[in-house]
Amino acid sequence: MKWSQLFTSSVGKKWVMALTGIFLILFLIVHVALNATIWANDGGKMFEAGAHFMGSNIVPRILEIGLIAGFLIHIIQGIMLELQNRSKRKRGYAANLGNRGSKWYSRSMGLLGTLILIFLIIHMAHFWVPNRSNQGWLLGPEISLYDEMREVFQQEWVVIVYVLGCFSLAWHLMHGFQSAFRTLGVSNKKYLTLLNSLGIGFSIIVPLVFALMPVSFYFGWIN
Ligand code: HEM
Repeated sequence: MKWSQLFTSSVGKKWVMALTGIFLILFLIVHVALNATIWANDGGKMFEAGAHFMGSNIVPRILEIGLIAGFLIHIIQGIMLELQNRSKRKRGYAANLGNRGSKWYSRSMGLLGTLILIFLIIHMAHFWVPNRSNQGWLLGPEISLYDEMREVFQQEWVVIVYVLGCFSLAWHLMHGFQSAFRTLGVSNKKYLTLLNSLGIGFSIIVPLVFALMPVSFYFGWIN
């Protein structure tokens, strides 16, 4: 495969989705681990220390540019793939196997991705935009993200949107996690079984821990 085919051929597009998807999975691990420090119940001290490092050190700030690029490429290429699949579907398959042919969530990656995108836009407006604009987009003073969370998660509709966003993420990952490794060529049956189990575990645990964050603030389990 030539470099130019990475963005034009079907296989190339799937490779881009897989590589950026795995990169975003790594980001989710760091994000959920850092945020889980809110349950230290120390008034947000540990969380603020981690958030301050991420927001003021030059290394994570440079990685942030890669993260934005990763999200954008994954979203744009995902839209292209979805459009391509739709035009194929319009022509129709000889036999529509429904759930016997594939799981509903593997056929709904575009819809689930769109729901996550809507969640992400709301999420960035809550935390990232106020923090970065306060910093003057460089390394200036940050806002207290812990206080911001405590305030934002008092609103019922916000908690509901976050829980639904995490639910969409869980289904998106349920297909995406193992699919990424298949695309990159993992074909050994033993590894595929392992990846499948790992994928299911990851898709349930990570979004569940994320969803418990707004819920914990809302019900006052942490303050
Ligand atoms: C549901 C619980 C979640 C909470 C409480 C939460 C909270 C936060 C906070 C406080 C920030 C820091 C903003 C800043 O650095 O200025 C942040 C950043 C971010 N979050 Fe979340 N988040 C959650 C879930 C998610 C999920 C599920 C995703 C992805 C699907 C996500 C994607 C991001 C991104 C892309 C950033 C920007 C990272 C950066 O600073 O470059 N978050 N989040």
